Amino acid sequence: MYYRKHLFFCTNQRAEGAERPSCAQCGSPELRGWAKARLKELGLAGPGGVRANTAGCLDRCELGPVLAVYPDGVWYTYIDEDDLEEIIQRHVIGGEPVARLMLPDEPVA
Ligand code: FES
Repeated sequence: MYYRKHLFFCTNQRAEGAERPSCAQCGSPELRGWAKARLKELGLAGPGGVRANTAGCLDRCELGPVLAVYPDGVWYTYIDEDDLEEIIQRHVIGGEPVARLMLPDEPVA
């Protein structure tokens, strides 16, 4: 694989008053930028490593902000840099998903 892992951060921003929330309202663009810089700082960025990408709406808006880690297929929500650091350290580096931040695998009715 060209990248070992992709971290897809939804950075969708809906208009004020929209029916559904959007991840950008929770600071996802800034937090994605923090994660990108942190991966670089840790020497994990670049080909063969880990990439933090922006993504459009992943359609789990009510559970956001949403971050999906592939190829693992693990979906997270997060609040701040501390949550992202935990995901980087435990999952990206350690290979162990962070259960407390994971979204359910099954669609929520
Ligand atoms: S706005 Fe982020 S998942 Fe829809």
